[in-house]
Amino acid sequence: MSALSRRNGELHLEEVALSTLAERHGTPLYVYSAGAIEARYRAFTEAFSGHPHRVCYAVKANSNLAVLQLLAQLGAGFDIVSGGELERVLRAGGDPSSIVFSGVGKTVVEMERALEVGVACFNVESAAELTRLEEVADRLGVVAPISLRVNPDVDAATHPYISTGLKENKFGVAIGSAAALYRYAADAEALAVKGVDCHIGSQLTTLEPFVDALDRVLALVECLNRDGIELAHIDLGGGLGVHYSDETPPTVAAYAEAILTRLGNRRETLLFEPGRWLVGEAGVFLTRIEYVKENEGRHFFVVDGAMNDLLRPALYGSFHGIEPVVDKPGAETLEGDVVGPVCESADFLGKNRMLAVEAGDLLAVTTAGAYGFGMASNYNSRNRAAEVLVRGGEDFLARRRETLDDQLALERLAPPQLVSE
Ligand code: LLP
Repeated sequence: MSALSRRNGELHLEEVALSTLAERHGTPLYVYSAGAIEARYRAFTEAFSGHPHRVCYAVKANSNLAVLQLLAQLGAGFDIVSGGELERVLRAGGDPSSIVFSGVGKTVVEMERALEVGVACFNVESAAELTRLEEVADRLGVVAPISLRVNPDVDAATHPYISTGLKENKFGVAIGSAAALYRYAADAEALAVKGVDCHIGSQLTTLEPFVDALDRVLALVECLNRDGIELAHIDLGGGLGVHYSDETPPTVAAYAEAILTRLGNRRETLLFEPGRWLVGEAGVFLTRIEYVKENEGRHFFVVDGAMNDLLRPALYGSFHGIEPVVDKPGAETLEGDVVGPVCESADFLGKNRMLAVEAGDLLAVTTAGAYGFGMASNYNSRNRAAEVLVRGGEDFLARRRETLDDQLALERLAPPQLVSE
């Protein structure tokens, strides 16, 4: 069940009319349903309730502090990919011992901090990273918990930019070289082997790639067991797709069944790193129409939100639903592109949409809770949008709108000799 509903012609998220939020907080605006995120989190843990598991929310999908706080309260762990994400999780009340640290480029400073706070596991992505981590842990006199992120070379059948489990991708270590690295790690005093990890891509809409990847990972686990290396956990990454247009992603129950069936009698704790599935459909991006214009018979709905706010359509050609916030039965229906004010032809939120709207009306861009605000920028010196969390009939400004002073705070004018002859 979606948290988004139309009542008397007006879109609501939970019990809150979106037009009220636009009046109160301005546009462009991101709005997230706390209830929807909570329902998704509970559905995920419920689906795996028969097996020891932990859901480590992929912070990159939506790293707003209030969203992290909500998930921490629910008992989620976290999957982080930077020192910045680590600090966000800690400030939101996340338990360091529930954090897995992924990413191909961990720096020494990031490793030191993660060891200091005591993260659960480093998902190590290369031999060079493994030896660096060993050196850092050794120098600090601690033992670093590790799993290797293996690249199982399966085709996730998703957009090439968000497919990560093929051998041509930069991610992970080739599954064929993993056993030797595990043997090295098992012998290293400053490293403790905890598990194995894989993440093959994002927005997967079929189960086969997950199952293929798991089969390959399990073959590796058995090989390691034969070598006397036991693992406490198997981390299957994120990737479960959501509904943007006409796709029908598997349900979490079907996903769990496929995985648990394949796992058989193995009792390793399962770790998951879902991002999009937990927050994507819980979020809406609100934008107001500034102008409706026509060029040579083509219509454009020029809105106050842009590619700097929601990059997915421009970067991946992604589809997001776009609906009027308030139905306007009298308005003429036009087919046109929903575009922002940024000076790029890729600055569109949707193409060839049929909309019965006029200048001044509000549009809701749906399934915008994941990889929306997190990928926003200040391009064209635009202030980044505000973010609001709703629960029932209540709304909370979780991030205020940026101001120009915020944008300029880190810059300064140069001394005269640098800017004039
Ligand atoms: N774990 C790792 C190691 C990841 O790299 C990712 C996503 C996830 C978990 C979470 O995947 P999810 O459950 O959200 O599919 N910006 C793109 C998506 C990039 C995903 C990157 N990695 C988009 O807007 O579609």
